[in-house]
Order: sequence, then structure tokens, then C-alpha cells
Amino acid sequence: MSRSLPSHPIGVFDSGVGGLTVVRALMDRLPFEDIVYFGDTARVPYGVKSVSTIQSFTQQIADFLLRQDVKLLIIACNTMAAVAADAVRARSPVPVLDVIEAGARNAVARTNSNSIGVIGTPTTINSNAYARAIHQLNPDCRVYSQACPLFVPLVEEGWLDHPVTKMTAQEYLKPVFVEQIDTLVLGCTHYPLIKPLLLDVVGDRMQLVDSALSIADQTAELLQSRGLANPSREIPDYRYVVTDVPVKFQTIGERFLGRSLNQIERVDL
Ligand code: DGL
Repeated sequence: MSRSLPSHPIGVFDSGVGGLTVVRALMDRLPFEDIVYFGDTARVPYGVKSVSTIQSFTQQIADFLLRQDVKLLIIACNTMAAVAADAVRARSPVPVLDVIEAGARNAVARTNSNSIGVIGTPTTINSNAYARAIHQLNPDCRVYSQACPLFVPLVEEGWLDHPVTKMTAQEYLKPVFVEQIDTLVLGCTHYPLIKPLLLDVVGDRMQLVDSALSIADQTAELLQSRGLANPSREIPDYRYVVTDVPVKFQTIGERFLGRSLNQIERVDL
């Protein structure tokens, strides 16, 4: 199994296409790092699956990426991070970062009222993982969580600025508005794509924490502090590995990534 070397790629994984929001943030923040992305497109969505199923799928993916000699694993999927990050960490010979830890850190640093809202898939919210991560950093913070199961299909449908998505957001966020929160964590890979719509709905009541941006900052810090930044200044290599035929991944993925997607390969786990 791999050990970390600066010239090795970063391994990023998600249940499907959503983790490309993290890849996009990484490409902007760390333009000389090679990246291998794994999207489990044959088995998405994870957010409505049981904990034991998600844990076993997650370990299969982590093992696959470790065989690709990645120097660092990034769990880009909030649902996987919520229920399987500890198990991945326990078995990984390379460092492991996850979006929940990164988002929690950012939210705690930014809140003034110590009242934080978190939105995510049902599995993420039911796991309480964000609340645990936030309380570990600051036990005085109050956390209000809200599952938003309809957001993932709406984003995948491309309804990023659609009245239906706006009404759905208003409905989901109603209970959150009652609390005096000043910071809302976007606890799902898909939500950064509807950030403008969500900002419109929350107005100046609260600031939004984008876990994709938070993890890109955390990755940069980790690579620097451990001497793992790629010294090469060549154009980086980006590979995308999926478990279903790549056509849909490519079409939707380009929207998530904001650039064209090449080098997509399909594997069976
Ligand atoms: N990637 C998942 C997350 O961040 C959303 C999609 C899914 O349910 O698999 O929670």
C-alpha cells in the first residue's frame, strides 16, 4: 500500500458527481497537484442508504485509491464522512481529510452568536456528525440541523435557479430561521451549486460555509506542514474514475467542475 510522497496524486472521493465541487476548489487553490477522483456513480445516492452499507462502500473506494498510490485521501462526500471517516482513518497509511471536519472548523471560526445551522442529506443529519465535530471545537456552540433530501435531485436536474428549488429551500429553512443562527454550513457536496439561490433565501440573516472551500484550505495547510506539496510546476494530471458508464457523469460533472472533463475511466470495485 502507498506511502505519501510529494509527487504522488491526491485521491478525492464521493458517492457520485457532487465531490467535483471539492475538486474544483482544490484545482483553484492548489494548481500544481495531480488528482485522482473517484465517483461511485453506479451506487449513488448514498444519503438515503444505511450506515453499514455506506461504511462498506466507502472502504472499498478508499482501498482502490490507496492502490493508485495517492499521498492523501480526501473524503469529499459529507454522507461518507459522517459515518465512515473514522474507519477510513484507522486503516489508511496516508493522511485522511474530510469535509465535515473542515466545514465544522470554518463554521466555529466564523460564528459570532455561537449558533450554527447545518443542512445535509438525511444520513448526514441523523448521524449528528457535524454537531459532534462543532462541539469538539467549541462546546458552547448550539447546532441546529435540517435534512434537505430534495436538494440533491434538484441540483442533479440542473434546477439551480428554479422557482421549485427556491420554494423548497424556503420550506426547509423555515425552522432554521426561527433560531438565532448566524452561520449555515452547506453540509452536502451538491449545495455549493445552489449557493446564490440559498443566499437569496437567507438574505443577510446568516453567512454560508462552503465545505468545498474549507477543505481546499485545509489541504493546502496539510501539504505545506508535512512537506507533501508537489514541487513540479508542470500541467497537472487529472483522472476521473467512475463505476457506471461515464456519459451522465461527464455532462453533469462539467457543471460541477466548471470546465471540461477528460480522462474518465470506468471500473468495477
Ligand atoms: N455526496 C453526498 C453528500 O455530500 C450527496 C449525494 C448522495 O446522497 O450520495 O452528502
